[in-house]
Amino acid sequence: MFFRKNKREIGIDYDNLPVHIGVIMDGNGRWAKKRGLPRSAGHQAGADTLKKIVTECNKMGIKYITVYAFSTENWKRPKDEVDFLMNLLYNYLKDAEKTLAGENVVIRAIGSREELSEKIRQQIRKTEEFTKNNTGIVMNIALNYGSREEITNAVKIIAEKAVKGECRPEDITPEMISEKLYTGGQPDPDLIIRTSHELRLSNFMMWQASYSELYFTKTLWPDFSMRDLHAAVMEYQRRNRRFGGV
Ligand code: FPP
Repeated sequence: MFFRKNKREIGIDYDNLPVHIGVIMDGNGRWAKKRGLPRSAGHQAGADTLKKIVTECNKMGIKYITVYAFSTENWKRPKDEVDFLMNLLYNYLKDAEKTLAGENVVIRAIGSREELSEKIRQQIRKTEEFTKNNTGIVMNIALNYGSREEITNAVKIIAEKAVKGECRPEDITPEMISEKLYTGGQPDPDLIIRTSHELRLSNFMMWQASYSELYFTKTLWPDFSMRDLHAAVMEYQRRNRRFGGV
């Protein structure tokens, strides 16, 4: 009880938490540049921040977090940076088996796996298997993820069903499409946070974000703290969500 009372003291309404938070973790490069460091140092610091934020979301009682780790467009970056990010992701997944899994986190990767190396695909399968029976927060790591690819993939699955005569075009519903996205079965994000003051979605959860509250902050991702997370949740709680109604 003390814990709960203590939590309330920071001004968060624990009966009105976002169930699902999406995070566009932006600004790693600028964080590093400001310090005269290579971009890789920014990504490393960003990965450390991510662990802290997921741990705190789990403690707060948030049920799902989806983080944008590598987009379908990020392959355009210099090879050195792509290689560094892939290696960081591999180590993160491997390490998460011990650290985040120990905190009861369920880890899943969302996105197209075909373009990823077999080494990463294998580690994804291992980490997912290792954490699948945990009961805490579900963490979706969006990896080689892009909304347009995700929606295209869902449409292909449904079209194949139609060709086989398993459904008719007129039977296709938004719910069916939602179900075939990588996040199928999960609630849509209530709140999407983007750091570093870029004001766009950049191909992140565009279908699922239809009614998400968007929160933008100037803070660069590696500097994003528990206090910033609490501020985003409190701002979310001040919003009046109408879902198209009055
Ligand atoms: C955007 O910052 C960030 C990324 C493209 C990568 C996000 C990755 C991490 C936070 C760390 C790794 C994550 C995991 C799950 C291990 P940017 O590089 O575009 O920054 P900039 O806009 O300042 O250049």
